[in-house]
Amino acid sequence: MMRLAGKTALITGAARGIGRAFAERYIAEGARVVIADIDIARAITTAEEIGAIAVEIDVTRQESIDRAVAEAVAELGQIDILINNAAIFSAAPLVEIERANYQRVFDINVSGTLFTMQAVAKHMIEHGVKGRIINMASQAGRRGEALVAVYCATKAAVISLTQSAALNLIEYGINVNAIAPGVVDGEHWDGVDAFFAKYEGKAPGQKKKEVGDSVPYGRMGTADDLTGMAVFLASDDAEYVLAQCYNVDGGQWMS
Ligand SMILES: NC(=O)c1ccc[n+]([C@@H]2O[C@H](COP(=O)([O-])OP(=O)(O)OC[C@H]3O[C@@H](n4cnc5c(N)ncnc54)[C@H](O)[C@@H]3O)[C@@H](O)[C@H]2O)c1
Repeated sequence: MMRLAGKTALITGAARGIGRAFAERYIAEGARVVIADIDIARAITTAEEIGAIAVEIDVTRQESIDRAVAEAVAELGQIDILINNAAIFSAAPLVEIERANYQRVFDINVSGTLFTMQAVAKHMIEHGVKGRIINMASQAGRRGEALVAVYCATKAAVISLTQSAALNLIEYGINVNAIAPGVVDGEHWDGVDAFFAKYEGKAPGQKKKEVGDSVPYGRMGTADDLTGMAVFLASDDAEYVLAQCYNVDGGQWMS
């Protein structure tokens, strides 16, 4: 059974990684999908490969968000589901954190999530769409990490924004929830591994192996491990679910 038949979705940061896996799975479940990414060349290639539509978005710029949402509405008719997935990672010892980097990570991970959510919520309210919004948090938002203060703080903010937005938007029939992955293999984690190689003097790939070995399930996650939760939260089965952040992390975090 196709659980998202007739639905439409806008997924940010879906040119690659977890967002791409969400887009592929949503299409397999019957949805039409717009993938929106700052890397428009890759978004176009991905869209061609999986049967989606590509639009350019920079979630740090309001005019770019507004244009992308308008393009998505023009392509899809309306947006039933938004996944706020675009984000960047950063790591440094506290005394080396640079203000410009702090601002950039917050602009993408927090402001990008809030103002994309706002733009799509306005569309949903205006058109009476009983929509679903899913924000990508992280286990990093559940607790601090010695070298990851800024990224952890952004993901804690995403969890908090999810709760407030859910409580505000449910009166319009819009359900807002979040997903907190653990460690998910892919290009994102190749970058994370490089940060730890630099700051902890580890050989390339060593941190990845260590974190994979420490997951109770016994390995790192894959993007495909997350798609079931993203389908559930967008489906009719999640009608009574809001303001939650679900850990999909092989048992790493219990809350
Ligand atoms: N990979 C993991 O281990 C992991 C763990 C926990 C949470 N997450 C979260 O899951 C989500 C997806 O992670 P991923 O591993 O697929 O990351 P990724 O780095 O592979 O993909 C992120 C995408 O976001 C896009 N992007 C970056 N800046 C943007 C901007 N300003 N505007 C629009 N798009 C922009 C990139 O071009 C890229 O396609 C992120 O929110 C991430 O924080 C990932």
